[in-house]
Amino acid sequence: MFSSHSELETALLLCNKCKLCKDKNHGPTSFNGTSDSPLAIVGEGPGGVEDEYGVPLVGPSGQLLDKALASVGITRDKIYTSNTIKCRPLGNRTPTIEEGQFCANHWLDEELRFVQPKVIIALGSVALKYLYGPEKRITKDRGQWFTTKYDIPAIATYHPAYLLRLTGKELVKAKWEVYYDLKAAVEKCQ
Ligand code: URA
Repeated sequence: MFSSHSELETALLLCNKCKLCKDKNHGPTSFNGTSDSPLAIVGEGPGGVEDEYGVPLVGPSGQLLDKALASVGITRDKIYTSNTIKCRPLGNRTPTIEEGQFCANHWLDEELRFVQPKVIIALGSVALKYLYGPEKRITKDRGQWFTTKYDIPAIATYHPAYLLRLTGKELVKAKWEVYYDLKAAVEKCQ
């Protein structure tokens, strides 16, 4: 238990609680944006750029996320952004459910206890499974409201890294779906 969000951040940056910290390149990544925002975005975990800079969603996925947020009239500085898992697994592999749970039990849960957002956006499958449960599937459950383990309403949408792999009609369809999910989240905060 921490007495403030900044005390939590100091401890997070020194974390070596699991074996991922031995694999990491630059250390645990923190969070960014405003901690009194009504809207929190929870991603998966750091990629190469985030690992280097120490903050979430600043690489190619983050840049696409910024464009999607701009389309619904909001900028990242008005939002709290964090990740389920704070260290980048070796080879940039997807973290396991157990790794996500272990890390988020220590950090994300504590962060959200301070931030108390009105709405959470789960970006992609890892965040969705952590915030709701392993039975959830991003392909089936995106765009649906659910109540997180913190009793905060959340909506899941596709991770921007997934969009970056799509082309043609599939990409256009997925972009519209993300647009409607983000719009719904922003409207629910008002
Ligand atoms: N993908 C995420 O989910 N989070 C990051 O910080 C970077 C890429």
